[in-house]
Amino acid sequence: MDDKQIHELRIKALALIDSCSDLEEVEQARVQLLGRKGSITQALRQLTELPISQRKLVGERLNALKKEVEQLISDRIAQLERQKLEHLYRAEAIDVTFPAKSVHRGYLHVLYRLIDEICEIFHGIGYTVVEGPEIESDYYNFEALNIPQDHPARDMLDSFYIEKDILLRTHTSPVQIRAMEASAPPIYVVAPGRVYRRDNPDATRSPVFHQIECLAVDKNLSVAELKATIDYVVRSIFGHDRKVRLRPDYFPFTEPSYEVSVSCGVCGGVGCRSCRFKGWLEILGAGVVHPRVLQYGGIDPNEWRGFAFGMGIERIAMLKYGVEDIRLFFENDIRFTSQFGY
Ligand code: PHE
Repeated sequence: MDDKQIHELRIKALALIDSCSDLEEVEQARVQLLGRKGSITQALRQLTELPISQRKLVGERLNALKKEVEQLISDRIAQLERQKLEHLYRAEAIDVTFPAKSVHRGYLHVLYRLIDEICEIFHGIGYTVVEGPEIESDYYNFEALNIPQDHPARDMLDSFYIEKDILLRTHTSPVQIRAMEASAPPIYVVAPGRVYRRDNPDATRSPVFHQIECLAVDKNLSVAELKATIDYVVRSIFGHDRKVRLRPDYFPFTEPSYEVSVSCGVCGGVGCRSCRFKGWLEILGAGVVHPRVLQYGGIDPNEWRGFAFGMGIERIAMLKYGVEDIRLFFENDIRFTSQFGY
């Protein structure tokens, strides 16, 4: 074995190690070079065949080659393991910039969102939200509200009776009596909820709909406070550029009573198609609580005064969002309801 042969052995060994592309191939190369029958092992074994004078030098060279090859193999193993890890990191990395799958979220029905919004407006001026039952007695729904025996709302044809003297409430006003019974004045409450009337469904009427009742009872309340409150609430709902108008009306439970309108948002009050050329849109009934109603609620009308108003949520939603058929709120067609979701 001369220098040239050792040199060739080295070149081959280096090339072999270099060509390994995975750990298995490195192991094969190691066996080919350093295994029992490996080329370097064989060359070392053949040392005994050399004359003594050459043995030491060739032996030193071969041992140096063996060391070098061992080092190269372990370097190559370390390198391949690093590459394998790097590949794994890259393959399994999470791309945080990748767009996420869209999640379909639910949302409140537009009527309940509006109820929440209106309650929030009242909350801001010191009102508390209360609720009453939808199945109500004749006493709370009519009698305590000073509604006379022969009033049309009391007719079987106008209200849903469950049994004699028990019916589905026709308005949220019975909650006025319940609120007065529940706490001593001063009282500032709003009562949202469902109400029922025996109407055939059409574009503006539904046998079930929603109202919000407002009741205030305090010393020295007058029509001025009623007007100011309605003004604030209505303009908070529709926009502060809108005007509010009160006109005399009649309700058995308020005296005086008013019909309240808001100026048309389309024409600003001069009259157009959407307000039927009136310039105004009726939105609620209101008034000063009738002394007899305060008495029914256990409150002394000589000491306390109250005002109340009630508004239809669907009506407000229709005007606010330009919905032309009340039935859309109840059909729950997602193409309609989803327009209000957020
Ligand atoms: N309850 C009346 C209705 O349903 C509205 C109203 C409430 C009027 C309170 C005056 C005071 O039409």
